[in-house]
Amino acid sequence: MAVQINPSILSADFARLADEAKAVEGADFLHVDVMDNHFVPNLTLGVPVVESLARATDTPLDCHLMIEAPDRWAPQYVEAGASSVTFHVEAAAAPVRLAREIRAKGARASMALKPATPIEPYEDLLPELDMLLIMTVEPGFGGQAFLDIMLPKIRRTRELISKHGLQLWLQVDGGVSAATIERCAEAGADVFVAGSAVYGAEDPAEAVRALRKQAEG
Ligand code: DX5
Ligand code: ZN
Repeated sequence: MAVQINPSILSADFARLADEAKAVEGADFLHVDVMDNHFVPNLTLGVPVVESLARATDTPLDCHLMIEAPDRWAPQYVEAGASSVTFHVEAAAAPVRLAREIRAKGARASMALKPATPIEPYEDLLPELDMLLIMTVEPGFGGQAFLDIMLPKIRRTRELISKHGLQLWLQVDGGVSAATIERCAEAGADVFVAGSAVYGAEDPAEAVRALRKQAEG
């Protein structure tokens, strides 16, 4: 299981996004948090910024849409240049149709679960996805404390993925740091989003390398 580290630009300087992307060269994807102030109580950026960022960096973009109406918006993020697009199942009207549309447009399709959303009702949807995101904080803000109580959900999801013999990646997002990444990896996560732990570090590229090493165990 190859480990991937995706720095979240939510903790970067939004006035210097191209430089901040370069500061983490060597990262697998750049995690871009899109918030609409409806699905979550915070507002970040939208399609035009993703379009510019995609032109400014060679690192593929992993867009995490914390927005209402992802059925309408997600395809536009693929067109804007995102390599992976994550929608929240709590907001999607038709998750299977949406995942198929994202894939048909040429990006990886990913679905996110808030902390209180169980995985079990979605077991049959897993083959439609390239990645599943388990939130380890309530979505909306960087720098929150990791929710340990999500570890059993990560473990159960990894078991479901194995049971069905699927290749999909299992991503965790929220409070992932040197103090928590090993527990996430041990529970079965293989893609790690880190915002404050990377951009809050003296040397972000070194923080990515150190997290990768820890997750690889
Ligand atoms: C939170 C976002 C995260 C955030 C993580 O809603 O989805 O991607 O940037 O930040 P840290 O790693 O600081 O918890
Ligand atoms: Zn995120």
